[in-house]
Amino acid sequence: MEPIETLQQEAQAKIQSAASLSELNELRVLYLGKKGPVQELMKGMKDLPKEEKPIFGQKVNQLKQLLSSMIEDKKVELEKKEMEAKIENEKIDITLPGRSPVLGNAHPLNLVKQELEDLFIGLGYQVIEGNDIVDDLYCFERANIPKDHPARDMQDSLYIDQNTLLGTHTTAIQMMVLEKSAPNLPIKVVCPGKVYRRDDDDATHSHQFMQMEGLVIGEKVTLSDLKGTLEFMAKKLFGQDRQIRFRPSYFPFTEPSVEVDVTCHICNGKGCPTCKGTGWIEILGAGEVHPNVLKMAGYDPERCSGFAFGVGIERVAMLKYGIDDIRHFYTNDKRFSETFKRFD
Ligand code: DAH
Repeated sequence: MEPIETLQQEAQAKIQSAASLSELNELRVLYLGKKGPVQELMKGMKDLPKEEKPIFGQKVNQLKQLLSSMIEDKKVELEKKEMEAKIENEKIDITLPGRSPVLGNAHPLNLVKQELEDLFIGLGYQVIEGNDIVDDLYCFERANIPKDHPARDMQDSLYIDQNTLLGTHTTAIQMMVLEKSAPNLPIKVVCPGKVYRRDDDDATHSHQFMQMEGLVIGEKVTLSDLKGTLEFMAKKLFGQDRQIRFRPSYFPFTEPSVEVDVTCHICNGKGCPTCKGTGWIEILGAGEVHPNVLKMAGYDPERCSGFAFGVGIERVAMLKYGIDDIRHFYTNDKRFSETFKRFD
């Protein structure tokens, strides 16, 4: 019986002083496992005289049970301790100062878009947005650009199927607004949107960019209304001392058509590298809405007229903020966008 008692004392002491669940598990395997001493004692029973066997067997079984229940109790105790330690470790110190989240800032293109929207809302315009994907019908046909018209060449680009494409100009939204509104008057809308064209990207070209279309239709809306409106816009965007000028141009959806220049904000019209020595910088295309466009949308060009313009948002942002490469808008380098915090 002696080895049983020695083993019991030794095992009890070790189990009592186990410091972790893993240590305890090792002890369980050590004492109660298949190759452990308890099992060895069981095996040794066969060599004992017959009358001693039952008592010895009983003692070994008692030892086994005792050790098992001690291990169980110790396990509960250690689990509790480990949980308490974990809770203690994970305690949050609510007196520590908070970590402030990193704040982003508006993208310069959004700043310009919003500025333009606010400016035109102030003049009584509605803001109407379109989709990136448009029908050929609105992008070209209704804009007086029939199939095979050479004006398509510059924009005949990213098709989804024969009649659907990524919008190449916000003029497509203008055509949808016209059709929806006909024959009601007046119309006064600006339509911001993303547009896409096949293009080789460089400092001044991007296959994706943003435009804002303006459209006013009423009973007697003239080119001088257009001029007053655009002058107001140029002064708001670039400063009160700006002048604008109209240059004759051609767009299939307007007649007459003009290109609009603003006096250079760097040299104030004297001539410098930014304006290539001319004193003027081109900012947009515009004109009186072509009678064919009005007719196709369901308006009578004898009874109403109007103007339209299309302004490039990147172009305005580049001029306004002195950005020299259109690709900066789309590469999303944080160091670039962060410089616009000052305009918030
Ligand atoms: N759609 C033209 C373009 O993408 C811009 C434009 C010019 C829009 C004249 C107009 C306009 O509404 O009247 O180049």
